[in-house]
Amino acid sequence: MIFGAILAGGIGKRMNIADLPKQFLLLDNKPIIIHTIEKFLIVNRFDKIYIGVHSDWIQYMNDLIEKYNLDKTKLVVVAGGKDRSDTILNIITAIKNSFPDNKEDVIVTHDSVRPFVTKRIIDDNIDAAIKYGACDTVVSSADTIVVSNNNDTITDIPNRNFMYQGQTPQSFKLDLLLDSYKRLTDAEKDILTDACKVCVMKGVAVKLVMGEYSNFKITTINDYKVAQAMVGGKKLD
Ligand code: CTP
Repeated sequence: MIFGAILAGGIGKRMNIADLPKQFLLLDNKPIIIHTIEKFLIVNRFDKIYIGVHSDWIQYMNDLIEKYNLDKTKLVVVAGGKDRSDTILNIITAIKNSFPDNKEDVIVTHDSVRPFVTKRIIDDNIDAAIKYGACDTVVSSADTIVVSNNNDTITDIPNRNFMYQGQTPQSFKLDLLLDSYKRLTDAEKDILTDACKVCVMKGVAVKLVMGEYSNFKITTINDYKVAQAMVGGKKLD
């Protein structure tokens, strides 16, 4: 089976402009997260799409699903966790509770605040997860990457040809991801928020899938303004 996992357990501290977590802010009169869910719903390969939401906002999320008339037979809302990894683990637990016996299941994890993801990117993720077991969506780094180990002076300037910026989706054979998480030490669990890094640290090869520069994460007010300019008052398609 193929599962979507939309991560919406955060509260958007860095945005800091509204009482609402940023995934609920409006973009062209529709919450950001609704745009994101709609992108997943048009990919008919998903058996279920899980949405991990902060426990204070579950009712609000369910009301939005109702209000925007989304396909409830495909959507499952679960409580998010204390950090992003925890939200993923909560979703995996919910999947395993309902569908315990499928060894070849695939999970496509995606930030709720990346509403410009495309069907092509999602399809490529599903294909790569089936074929390789794990994949990450990336774009090549347009800027030169500068490393500073002391946050003061340059330690290194790596060859840009090998530098990428990580996006989401990040997609996995579900059991492979779960096994990698289980093999983390408690100290590793505390610092790791990136599911692909979990795999890399446990020696699992992670295939690159090409993203789009437009598939950026809405993190700051500036990102939100760019997103608003991109939709230009018209519907996202
Ligand atoms: N996320 C999640 N569960 C958490 C924390 C984050 O599912 N406990 C999700 C967010 O909702 C978001 C995605 O992970 O869709 C990317 O995280 P980020 O941009 O850092 O979102 P927030 O944690 O909401 O933002 P901030 O760090 O500014 O508070």
